[in-house]
Amino acid sequence: MTSGSSKFFGADLIDEDEIEAVVRVVRSRRLFRYYGPEGTASEVAEYEREWASLLRVPHALAVNSGTSSLLCALAALGIGPGDQVIVPAFSWIATVNAIQHLGAVPVVAEVDESLCLDPVAVERAVGPRTRAVLTVHMRGAAADMGGLLDVTRRHGLPLVEDCCQASGASYRGRRLGTLGIAGCYSTQYAKLVSTGEGGVLVTSDQGVYRKAIEVHDCGAVTRGGGGLPTYAGLNLRCTELQAAVGRVQLRRLDRMLEEMRQRHRLLSSVVAELPGLEPRPQNDAAGDSGCALIAMARTSGHAASICEALRRQGVYARQLYRPDVIDLHIYASWAPTIAHVTSAGLPAPDCPRTLALLGRAVHLDVSPLLSQEDVAHIVAALTTAASVPAD
Ligand SMILES: Cc1ncc(COP(=O)(O)O)c(C=O)c1O
Repeated sequence: MTSGSSKFFGADLIDEDEIEAVVRVVRSRRLFRYYGPEGTASEVAEYEREWASLLRVPHALAVNSGTSSLLCALAALGIGPGDQVIVPAFSWIATVNAIQHLGAVPVVAEVDESLCLDPVAVERAVGPRTRAVLTVHMRGAAADMGGLLDVTRRHGLPLVEDCCQASGASYRGRRLGTLGIAGCYSTQYAKLVSTGEGGVLVTSDQGVYRKAIEVHDCGAVTRGGGGLPTYAGLNLRCTELQAAVGRVQLRRLDRMLEEMRQRHRLLSSVVAELPGLEPRPQNDAAGDSGCALIAMARTSGHAASICEALRRQGVYARQLYRPDVIDLHIYASWAPTIAHVTSAGLPAPDCPRTLALLGRAVHLDVSPLLSQEDVAHIVAALTTAASVPAD
């Protein structure tokens, strides 16, 4: 299959540089962030400085997963039992699970045409127990940050950004994760910056940063000479080996974005000209990471026919929602959340607009490794698929 055969983004680019980085750390015998043989320095500390510098933000905290970065951000904001956090109906299940693990209740709201949290739906969902809004930049593209910042400011709510699917992307010239109070990244295997497992929290807020350090490391305060802990912290720390790989991967990010954006722009312009299809509307097209081409079909039946026609031509494509498929990116499959929300006395989430939009959405991965021939093949396949009559 042309698209999808090399879909691991950062991990597809692993070469001798990562191997050398790992070997360097193992040879140093410094496998722990906070101490090791005399004369060795922490890779994790450098890795954090490099994330902070790339994103132009004062603080970055490396952790062991994107889920952990979410947990740290929410716990650092003091989110706890009974609090409500507004989230979009389209995200990986980890987003809502992080909220739930703090005893808080995810309030699931509709996405807009960008397939990210709709500020109008947030406005409607705000209630007396709302304590935060957690937006998710899905498939490389920014949510409507202007609208979300406006609604959260008016209600005095912190806005957290889940950037796990949008590494390096930006909104009006600012990298995602730096517009809200905290940004949460994943460096899991299939992400643009990949350490296999891993995550990073970024923030400009000194208080959030300090608290997040304590959440991710139960010994942090005491080890730093600050006396007794103030929070029952965990161990969500990033390892020196992860950081060594991450530093190499991070250096490649901007080049990779350039490569993907080039292919994405070309494919989007083709989709824009095809009958019955249009590219997903964007809040900032130039800032899209370019990792996913999403073509909106007229109906879900039309989207299904397009996917089938693409697959027949060797191009892997999928509909973002099908009622017969369990998909943990769709709120309808978030069984623990549904149970938790209803047991808290709230109505079960119901987001028909999200399902309708995702049902019409045809998704193709856009790897930086797609050759010109691959792209030409996708263009030809899309053109043929668009001529297939909708049922
Ligand atoms: C939107 C979103 N949020 C959170 C996560 C969780 O990240 P991790 O798997 O690193 O815990 C993911 C991972 O795929 C994700 O896509």
